[in-house]
Amino acid sequence: MLAQIQETKSFLENKTSVKPFTGIVLGTGLGNLSSEIEVETAIPYSEIPNFPVSTVQGHSGQLIFGTLNGVPVVAMQGRFHYYEGYSLKECTFPIRVMKMLGIKNLFLSNASGGVNANFEIGDIMLITDHINLLPDNPLRGKNIDELGPRFPDMSEPYSKDLNNKVFSIAQQNNIKLQQGVYAVLSGPTFETPAEYKYIQIIGADTVGMSTVPEVIVARHMDLPCMAMSIITDLGVDGKIVEISHEEVQEVAKEAEPKMTLIIKELLKEIYS
Ligand code: HPA
Repeated sequence: MLAQIQETKSFLENKTSVKPFTGIVLGTGLGNLSSEIEVETAIPYSEIPNFPVSTVQGHSGQLIFGTLNGVPVVAMQGRFHYYEGYSLKECTFPIRVMKMLGIKNLFLSNASGGVNANFEIGDIMLITDHINLLPDNPLRGKNIDELGPRFPDMSEPYSKDLNNKVFSIAQQNNIKLQQGVYAVLSGPTFETPAEYKYIQIIGADTVGMSTVPEVIVARHMDLPCMAMSIITDLGVDGKIVEISHEEVQEVAKEAEPKMTLIIKELLKEIYS
């Protein structure tokens, strides 16, 4: 895998002069944050050696190099999910590459179902911890010692320092920000009422189908992470209604300006 990462890194470095400080993974409905980026180079995943190709509607699938609020960034417009059929190593390959390109931190976003009774549709939740309920771990198999340790520490999966900064930014801008634990399931089915209840009982506040594999791989490489989730539906007893991917995207879109503001302010604050 190391040789493939190197090959992809060299390919990308020949395509762009941007030296990204931050990597950003844009999730469901948040692809438009990329319109805020001053794009230098945008490369479809299909043209990038060793990259899987995104298949899901609403995930356009390109890697963007440019500046956001003056900060050099690399952004994934569209991510790879386990439910699409990729292995978790394939899903997280771009994170390996972004680290090799020199990013100092990783921001991620997603949409999720809230199982915390205090949450409302449209809320943004800062992820403080996660529970991996996928039937796999992206680090399973022979460890690549050049990338990170065999048994990575997971005591701070999401950077407390970045999260504290996000809280201050939200407060200063009157943005309601929830915080909590994100559980990941494989999907592609949304949860049954019994599954939502189970997720709530084991200590999660939201549930979704992404982000955790990327964060595991990032932490393997000691990359600080910050992730935000838009609550697009509720898995709370008495509030469970039928949902669709389209509804999820609609709600996510509405919350997008707030998330964009937080990300831009955070970049400005941490870039030096
Ligand atoms: N469950 C899983 N994934 C999701 C959900 C959900 O309720 N909402 C948005 N993504």
